Amino acid sequence: MHPLFEKAGECARYIKGHSEALVISHIDADGVASAAVMCKMLEREGMDYGVRFLKQLDSVALNEIADLGKQLVIFTDLGSTMIDQINALGMDIVIADHHQPAGRGEYHLNPHLFGINGANELSGSGAAYLIWRAMGSTQDLADLAVVGAVGDLQDLREGRLIGMNRQILEEGVRGGVLSFKTDIRLFGRQTRPVHKLLEYCSDPYIPGITGDEEGCLRFLNDLGIKLKDADWRRWIDLRKDEKQQIVSGLMRLCIASGISPYKVERLVGEVYTLLKEEEGTELRDASEYSTLLNATARYGHAEIGLAVCMGDRSDAYVFAQNLLAQHRRNLSNGLNFVRDEGVVTLENLQYFHAGNNIQDTIVGIVAGMSASIEGISKELSIVALADAEDGIKISARGTQDLVRRGLNLAVALKESAEQVGGAGGGHDIAAGATIPRGTEEKFISILNEKIGLQLGDGHEQHNV
Ligand code: C5P
Ligand code: C5P
Ligand code: ZN
Repeated sequence: MHPLFEKAGECARYIKGHSEALVISHIDADGVASAAVMCKMLEREGMDYGVRFLKQLDSVALNEIADLGKQLVIFTDLGSTMIDQINALGMDIVIADHHQPAGRGEYHLNPHLFGINGANELSGSGAAYLIWRAMGSTQDLADLAVVGAVGDLQDLREGRLIGMNRQILEEGVRGGVLSFKTDIRLFGRQTRPVHKLLEYCSDPYIPGITGDEEGCLRFLNDLGIKLKDADWRRWIDLRKDEKQQIVSGLMRLCIASGISPYKVERLVGEVYTLLKEEEGTELRDASEYSTLLNATARYGHAEIGLAVCMGDRSDAYVFAQNLLAQHRRNLSNGLNFVRDEGVVTLENLQYFHAGNNIQDTIVGIVAGMSASIEGISKELSIVALADAEDGIKISARGTQDLVRRGLNLAVALKESAEQVGGAGGGHDIAAGATIPRGTEEKFISILNEKIGLQLGDGHEQHNV
């Protein structure tokens, strides 16, 4: 048996030895999906449980958790970065996380501790799912594990889920809850009229399509695609040959606009369908589902996302749909801000300060999406700063190429933040931090230097 499964088994048995638990999770799609897997498990085991969602786990939050005096605390999608501080509290704890760990611990399930990359081979909800499976449960919740992995963009690099995520996907397929196929990778296949689907294509940015409703309508008309039956046709309503025509047309446009073949390829990739969900709803598609969850959790409504994952298809679901519409407007405004303001370019990174123009909880998503904006270098990491209640929020996004050359944003952000009195962590390709107000300039300069060192020799060994 893979040692990761053995560890999941140990965690499962340890949880069973308690009668109540508090689940602590992260305010994003993967965090909500992870918490849902855990809650379903605790419910099935007949245990009392409560849930709390955190923007980040810091010592203040940890002390509050300790004061609650619960029998058992289960951390999902966070905890590994703070493992030493958690252990020092002397509580009964289980961690199911995938962020780069700062240390070990007895009931600490983290892929990095078993030679598996937590940035793209297993998500927080995947880790939670392994514990669920170790309890002897069915493959049912593989769908939530895939929603979490897709929410963390773990399928981005290869255009498909890999590693342990793939095993979970295959279990879900065998269990009849998931299917996958190669298709266009644009947001809204289930729910948006086709021309709207194309209009919101931001990666790659296609002149005449992206943000251009008229252009999209013309493009589809030129291909002879019928736009309406009784209602606007959605991607899922199109015939296979029509889909192929559109994809080829888009690729021709991309090539004519000089967009790199690598980007064009990314238009198409694997997509994941949740077979238990109703066709034509956001929940049917793993990517749309995860965006819906982000739209709740990133705005202080994680419990709404959780209710949807737990099965609510009435009030909570309707609320979540409204939040989703607002979230998409916020992302679009955020991208416009970056497009208008541009970035400051240093030797080893480029950055923008959003101030209070972009909310701290979504500035990371905007930073990731902004790579597709013209004039933003594809060769440098993007660092975003935004005002937050407790200081300045930092979000950084790299590329696979840079990671291959030695970039590790989790290490660079953690160390740079600590040097100015802040804290950070995450993954090699994507990481975040919070730093005290007023230290931005110093932080950026340290970070620039650290990334330079990482890329310089590429052989430095770090332990986070
Ligand atoms: O906190 P957490 O691990 O859940 O978030 C992972 C973050 O890493 C996501 O915001 C995701 O957008 C980012 N990511 C990325 N590129 C990848 C993998 C993850 O930007 N290839
Ligand atoms: O917030 P953002 O989306 O930029 O986060 C990127 C990654 O860094 C996520 O995996 C997040 O959990 C992690 N992070 C962290 N510590 C922070 C902020 C973010 O580990 N203080
Ligand atoms: Zn995660």
